[in-house]
Amino acid sequence: MKKVVTNSLRTRLLVTLLLWVVIATGATLLVANAIFRQHVEDSYHEELEVHVRELAVLTLVNEKGELELDRPLSDPRYNLPLSGFYWQVTMEGRRPLRSGSMTRGELDEHIAHSPEVLHVLEKGPTGPAITYGLIGSGPDGEEIHYVIATDQRHLDSLIQSFTRDLTIALVLLALVLLLVGYAFLGIGLRPLQRLRGAIGLLRSGERKSIEGDFPVEIAPLVSDLNVYAQQNEAMIAKSRTSAGNLAHSLRTPLAVITDEAERLASESATRESAHLLLEQARTMEQQIEYQLARARASSGMARGEHRVIVPDVAQPILKAMQRLHPEKEFHLQIEGFDKMILPIDRIDYAELLAILLDNAGKWAKSKVTLIFKADTADSLTASIHDDGPGMTDDQIERATEPGIRFDASKPGSGLGLAIAKEIADSLGLALSFKSLSSGFVGKLRYAPRSE
Ligand SMILES: Nc1ncnc2c1ncn2[C@@H]1O[C@H](COP(=O)(O)OP(=O)(O)OP(=O)(O)O)[C@@H](O)[C@H]1O
Ligand SMILES: [Mg+2]
Repeated sequence: MKKVVTNSLRTRLLVTLLLWVVIATGATLLVANAIFRQHVEDSYHEELEVHVRELAVLTLVNEKGELELDRPLSDPRYNLPLSGFYWQVTMEGRRPLRSGSMTRGELDEHIAHSPEVLHVLEKGPTGPAITYGLIGSGPDGEEIHYVIATDQRHLDSLIQSFTRDLTIALVLLALVLLLVGYAFLGIGLRPLQRLRGAIGLLRSGERKSIEGDFPVEIAPLVSDLNVYAQQNEAMIAKSRTSAGNLAHSLRTPLAVITDEAERLASESATRESAHLLLEQARTMEQQIEYQLARARASSGMARGEHRVIVPDVAQPILKAMQRLHPEKEFHLQIEGFDKMILPIDRIDYAELLAILLDNAGKWAKSKVTLIFKADTADSLTASIHDDGPGMTDDQIERATEPGIRFDASKPGSGLGLAIAKEIADSLGLALSFKSLSSGFVGKLRYAPRSE
């Protein structure tokens, strides 16, 4: 399942949008319902007011002094038994008149205590009813009470069906709003995605700056980033050049020292000191060559050099190692991919492989294998296996300190792994070693920096 990123602009905006849509549609539902109820009640009131007045007009007191209707009420529902539409006319001392629908129960005549129409909820023949009353006067001035009622359930069912339809419509509307909002978010956030792509190109070295037109809100950020990237690049170039210059300026004096030491080595009195001088001078020379190589590499670095194509990068190194250690076999093995591009300094990466392969070549009995293995689509481990004696865990821990060596029988200055560690750290690569029953392995793992 995809992880929900909580610290994301898109998630924040989506959650806000969701809340807003839910609140807005909920409020619309409540308000629309209230307005509709008001309208339905008003129209019931009006209709029943007309009916109660019609009832008053139609009611007569006949010759026998009994209440009687001139003709039935125009609405046929008053004659359907228990239809929920009822009327009643009462007069002191007379038999009350009731609608044909009222086969049981009675309406409270006291509801009509004034000539004005009243509407009150109370218990009707078939449940709660909206009741209306009117007081009129008979031929001799007697009070006649007219009452008319409609069951509350008719009104409720109207409102219920309205609520149902409205809810369906509002849910659909909310879905459409959310979809449209989601699409808007995509459009709104697109420049940020473009910026991310442009920064990726900058990091991989494919571009020298962030290119493209960006909205005014992020354009200042882009130009700040560009300035920063330029300054950074200039600073790196400058420090590499000065390291190169320093190395270069030391070269001639060192050559003089070496010459002098070689001359002294031929004299027996100074032979021992001369050898010490020569050895130290050689170490310094190696360092100087290394720094010069790096300076040369960086000054000649063209666009696109910030990428390593694996396994192509390994071929020339393996060839050189084979020449350096002719009695050992070098093998290359690739697992899980054909070609992979790492967005890091090519010269540095090649240097790292060379240091590890050189050590493996020096200490292997007969065979060295370089294995590139893709751990995921964009992370890669390079393992350098040799069938030599390896190191103990304690030795492994100290092996990357400058000048540390455990086996004097082989030539070297003890700087290789110290340099390797420094480069690996600067590239963000993980460097590790392990002794195996079958030999020794050095691992170099690249994984993209988490964003
Ligand atoms: N593959 C290996 N097998 C066994 N021992 C190793 C291996 N790699 C490194 N070592 C040990 O770690 C020490 C440090 O290695 P490092 O590469 O720093 O120095 P070096 O190879 O001796 O000299 P340099 O690389 O500077 O010429 C080595 O002297 C050696 O004792
Ligand atoms: Mg070495």
